Amino acid sequence: ETQALAERYKDSFSIGAALEPEHLEGRSADVVKFHFNSIVAENAMKAPNIQPQEGVFNFEETDRIVQFAKENQLELRFHTLVWHAEIPEWFTLDKNGQEMMEETDPLKREENKQLLLKRLEDHIRVIASRYREDIKYWDVVNEVIDENARNSKKLRESFWYELTGTDYIKTAFLATRKYAGEDAKLFINEFNTEMEPKRSYLLELVKELMADGVPIDGIGHQSHYTIGWPPLQDIEESILLFSSFGLDNQITELDVSIYSSEPEKIYGSDEEIPEELLQEQAKYYGDLFELYEELDDQISSITFWGLADNRSWLNFRAQDLSNGNGKDAPFVFDSYYNVKPAFWAIVK
Ligand code: XIL
Repeated sequence: ETQALAERYKDSFSIGAALEPEHLEGRSADVVKFHFNSIVAENAMKAPNIQPQEGVFNFEETDRIVQFAKENQLELRFHTLVWHAEIPEWFTLDKNGQEMMEETDPLKREENKQLLLKRLEDHIRVIASRYREDIKYWDVVNEVIDENARNSKKLRESFWYELTGTDYIKTAFLATRKYAGEDAKLFINEFNTEMEPKRSYLLELVKELMADGVPIDGIGHQSHYTIGWPPLQDIEESILLFSSFGLDNQITELDVSIYSSEPEKIYGSDEEIPEELLQEQAKYYGDLFELYEELDDQISSITFWGLADNRSWLNFRAQDLSNGNGKDAPFVFDSYYNVKPAFWAIVK
């Protein structure tokens, strides 16, 4: 007999999975309904998909995910209003179809900045107004810190930053608050939040923004891990650090890769993965959830970045590393939606 994951942690935090629209039917849908009480879109809500052309919105996939959540009483996260990695081209061109970034005239650059902030505000206005009753948690900006950046505050030198400095972050949070409402919970989402010096730069930015009246409710910790990394102590320190400034914490993109950063061997199927490795993964997952449970006053939600091992963004990495036939196995359900040792480790 299997225990439902969300049920196991109902006194502590919600448990979610990142879904593609095709997850909403068949076996995957059953697994979501049984085990989870929260969902997010893995890609559907990103800008290229939701506003592919200026003023042309594609709500079809997000609507389906929202509908599924309503029917099954699942909490929803929105991921993500702003990201440097996937920006539809129309966002980046000025009124004459020229790349905004390449403009050197200061006056025209200022015009471009205002145009960009207006487009951002419009993007958020349309989306947040539409889903304000349905979606509680919003990843407002994603991955804005880059510890290798040349500026002293280590702000990611993205298209957004080059044109607006940190004004895009302020506009994004203020607009989300305005259109999603007072009850919406607004997150700044980031990876490697466990690591110094990155987490200090993130904290400094958030403190500065908050002092400026920018409404930020919490930190989204992506949490893309590998077996044994990062050390639990670093995770604990990070969560406690951000909570000490009154911030909520959510684990937003959890997965535990079976491969280290330079793996010696890549496996091609579930059947090839040694039982020993799955046990090591289970141990790490078990310890991790024990820590999360200890910190449950500081953590409101935990979301896996996918559902089962048949489908993970890490599988593309494993394929690259192995000339095409590798796969990863980062979740607690295997490629056939059966529970893994890691599942038992986290429900125990
Ligand atoms: C990834 C998706 O999982 C992939 O399917 C997509 O091709 C690229 O984006 N950090 C994030 C997520 O914040 O949005 C990324 O998702 C994974 C890394």
